[in-house]
Amino acid sequence: MTGTFTALPAFFLCGPKRGPVEQPFLQVQRTMARVFLGGLLALGWCGQSYAQSLMPDKAPVQNWSFNGPLGHFDLAAVQRGYGVFAGVCAACHSLKDVHFADMAQTGLTPDEVIALAASWKVPVAVGSERLRKGLPDDAFPNPYTTPEAARAANNGAVPPDLSRIGVLYPGGPDRIFALLTGYDTGPKQAGGQGAAPPGFANRYAIAHRTAMPPPLHQDAVVNADGTPATVEQEAKDVTTFLAWVSAPHADSKRRLGVGVALYLCFLAILLVILKRRIWSHVAK
Ligand code: HEC
Repeated sequence: MTGTFTALPAFFLCGPKRGPVEQPFLQVQRTMARVFLGGLLALGWCGQSYAQSLMPDKAPVQNWSFNGPLGHFDLAAVQRGYGVFAGVCAACHSLKDVHFADMAQTGLTPDEVIALAASWKVPVAVGSERLRKGLPDDAFPNPYTTPEAARAANNGAVPPDLSRIGVLYPGGPDRIFALLTGYDTGPKQAGGQGAAPPGFANRYAIAHRTAMPPPLHQDAVVNADGTPATVEQEAKDVTTFLAWVSAPHADSKRRLGVGVALYLCFLAILLVILKRRIWSHVAK
């Protein structure tokens, strides 16, 4: 609409001048300018509605435990989210900046970390097809050896690495959660074939379509703490896990920030008292 409002005055400004003599070449110029501006106007309008149709919907705001200056990661949710990642997402996504040993920070003992690492298979060398058991120092492996293999398995799209998605994804954790739970499974979309464009309908994806098939299903994982594995719960937990993975030190930074703020308040009070004391000897 902005395009319309800026182009309209320009359109009328180029209208015929009420003068006694109208030179023919000026008339031609004006007609050309009108056609040009009319085109611009139409283009602006179409472009805008086209851009709007590509915009993902705004994700509803969720009440994450890790939001705000006093927030903290719910480590039980992070551990359940790891289960969802390992059982579901790791079939397609890598987590190349995260090492098995990092999981110790979620409250696992060294033995549990070794067992967790050993439950994964990692390539013996970069790009190698041969696999060995994982060790705590290994990073989460990429399920595909090359981007071409990833593309071939996913209808031409490469599943992105999720190491930093919690901070880099526009819309953040709210939108990751919305994307995971926001698939349109109406009868029109079933199969995603026929007249429908390729991919899966999802209002939170760019152009409302994503190449990722709906990854979560009821009871896709069994939670060790007995939490029922509904799609919503799995999405919440895996989003918490991805947010933690992207900023594992956020909690200690927040604690330090609160400590510094309290210290500065204390210092300010002390300085006020000191100032009063020093100046109390000076007569007004
Ligand atoms: C069958 C393979 C597959 C599985 C399983 C899978 N994904 Fe994806 N994912 C993809 C592909 C392919 C894309 C790229 C989509 C695109 O570019 O349209 C993607 C993209 C994404 C994106 C970025 C979305 C965007 O707008 O580009 C996020 C976030 C994501 N996946 C999270 C997850 C999580 C969390 C899980 C586990 C619960 C998961 N994925 C499971 C294939 C998968």
